[in-house]
Amino acid sequence: MTTFVLIGFMGSGKTTIGQYLAHSMEIPFVDTDDEIVNRVGMSIPKIFEHYGEPYFRKVESEVLKSFSKQSCVIATGGGIIELDANRQMLKNDDFLTIWLDTQFDTIMNRLTNDESRPLWNQNVEKRMSLFNSRQPLYDVTSHFSVKVDDRPVEDLVEEIKRYI
Ligand code: S3P
Repeated sequence: MTTFVLIGFMGSGKTTIGQYLAHSMEIPFVDTDDEIVNRVGMSIPKIFEHYGEPYFRKVESEVLKSFSKQSCVIATGGGIIELDANRQMLKNDDFLTIWLDTQFDTIMNRLTNDESRPLWNQNVEKRMSLFNSRQPLYDVTSHFSVKVDDRPVEDLVEEIKRYI
């Protein structure tokens, strides 16, 4: 049984595309951020503030593992590729990992006024540096990638379904 996982930077469209993909495949949709919020009982900014990023990453990893071998589409948080253990997990045969590849400018436009993401809530140099440091990690972790900039969700889902 394959678990389909969408990875990509914050604002790349993982949730929107994942919901659409899951619906068209008639399998459940899971959002790791929602699962974390439910498990911990706190919003993501509050988890970062009270417990710090390492704790968030630990719960995120547990959530990911708990859906292994389940037939579903999972939208992950943009930092899922930060832990080596997650990168290894996503490369194994239980998962099919799809990178939603975006340009930095697209993300800047989409998340202009967003204050809900602790790691986006910093100056442009730091955002760009985070983006650049993650690109190679998405690349090595994914089985394939799709370029998502400004393309309709229907087209993207059709492209993904041709691969899977
Ligand atoms: C994060 C991305 C967020 C969320 C948390 C950390 C990151 O998810 O998991 O704020 O490290 O990039 P989205 O990618 O859905 O915004």
